[in-house]
Amino acid sequence: MSKKILCVIGTRPEAIKMAPVILALKQEPWANVRVLATAQHRHMLDQVNEFFGIDPDIDLNIMRPNQALTTLTARLLLELDDVLQAERPDAVLVQGDTTTVMTVALACFYHRIPIGHVEAGLRTWDMQNPFPEEANRVIAGKLARWHFAPTEGSRQNLLKEGVPDSEIIVTGNTVIDALLMTAAKDLELAVPLDPTKRLVLVTSHRRENFGEPFRSICRALHTLAENNAEVQFLYPVHPNPNVKDVAYEFLAGLPNFTLCEPLDYAPFIAAMKRAYLILTDSGGVQEEAPALGKPVLVLRDETERPEAVEQGVVKLVGPNYERIVEEAQRLLDDETAYKAMARGVSPYGDGQAAERIVKTLREHFA
Ligand code: UD1
Ligand code: UDP
Repeated sequence: MSKKILCVIGTRPEAIKMAPVILALKQEPWANVRVLATAQHRHMLDQVNEFFGIDPDIDLNIMRPNQALTTLTARLLLELDDVLQAERPDAVLVQGDTTTVMTVALACFYHRIPIGHVEAGLRTWDMQNPFPEEANRVIAGKLARWHFAPTEGSRQNLLKEGVPDSEIIVTGNTVIDALLMTAAKDLELAVPLDPTKRLVLVTSHRRENFGEPFRSICRALHTLAENNAEVQFLYPVHPNPNVKDVAYEFLAGLPNFTLCEPLDYAPFIAAMKRAYLILTDSGGVQEEAPALGKPVLVLRDETERPEAVEQGVVKLVGPNYERIVEEAQRLLDDETAYKAMARGVSPYGDGQAAERIVKTLREHFA
């Protein structure tokens, strides 16, 4: 008898990182794969699903403009109750540390449905950074039955929290599966850029940076653009109004600074491949860029992804005006410093993570 596996996605990074798992599970004769989109994100989720050819079976269409965490959580829990009641899956898979993940884990716990947590065990050990994601993944980690840890470090984090070794499977991060599936294709950038100029690619959206820290990031970007007229900057802006309004206020109108809507996944990978340097607070970008040999300055004080920092290809600069300006300028001016960071390493995976996740479920269910 086939087993019903419900794969849940809410936001852009969940859709990207769950896609390889969904596609691999669909090849399994024993699995009846169902996809639930909470649609915590709307446009950014649809962009990714279209690219990977994933058509959700259920769509909660939950997103509201500038949604608050408490109401988002409450609305999700109510909707999930109905879905789990109707679907009665044998297992549910979630990915990462969003509000979708935390609420699905809780709802499944109440319905006594086992959860597989993809990208388990990432920790900063600081509940305020990243906020609210550290709490979301700790809660999901407490409730999960299978912990698909991307690295040995994340496995160690889970062991420290008392998760039984037998429930942890080190798989690599599925973000690298998705990246390898995509980077091999003929990619188009979709944004007009000057091929003779170096490109600095920027993304930023973290909630703990809202307000003054994000303004400080924008001021630093403004200074860098003014001081480096021969370099072009590209920033696909996250649609959260706390980000978008400030980014346009500080950065619109600079001749060498392009602000644009979020790029589709494949054009964004093309932009990363084209970039000289990447400034970001994104988790996924921190994982992808080292695999493409691109140095990253992380616009955060802490990271749950220390592996690339330890290898010297990613550096934390915080949302700190002086450090961002100084470190970015150094990488633009000093070729030796740049080359030391522009090494292709892939501490987060080998492209086989989805297969390892599916193997675990196959051995359990088939
Ligand atoms: C969420 C996740 C964060 C993840 C990020 C990836 C939580 C609490 N946060 O943050 O962990 O890193 O997604 O991008 O789960 N919006 C749109 N269109 C979209 C998507 C978002 O307009 O397609 C706007 C809406 O106004 C929405 C707002 O962005 O209310 C915030 O979305 P939300 O999912 O609550 O938080 P993010 O900041 O996107
Ligand atoms: N990404 C994208 N278009 C963009 C910016 C990012 O497709 O304009 C992809 C990127 O390749 C990565 C993922 O989105 O795989 C990261 O998502 P995000 O930064 O929103 O969330 P985080 O990883 O911080 O949770």
